Amino acid sequence: MIVCVCKSVSDRKIRAAIADGADSFDELQFELGVTTCCGRCEASVREVMAQCGVCETHCGVERSAPLHPVEITFYERKAA
Ligand code: FES
Repeated sequence: MIVCVCKSVSDRKIRAAIADGADSFDELQFELGVTTCCGRCEASVREVMAQCGVCETHCGVERSAPLHPVEITFYERKAA
């Protein structure tokens, strides 16, 4: 299915680019030219990224990666 009409980029092409190492929205834009014309395909590109387990934000962190809560310790400040 064509995701980006302006650049004739299919979901298969996006998946292939992700499989080849593209791990961020910016990289897909650079590699394939998606969303660089009218921009209407952005949501669909991000959806394909999410389906592939790539975070749809710009961070490139895999979405399926478990989030580990960070333990925060508060120390009480004592007067000298
Ligand atoms: S549809 Fe992708 S830039 Fe226009």
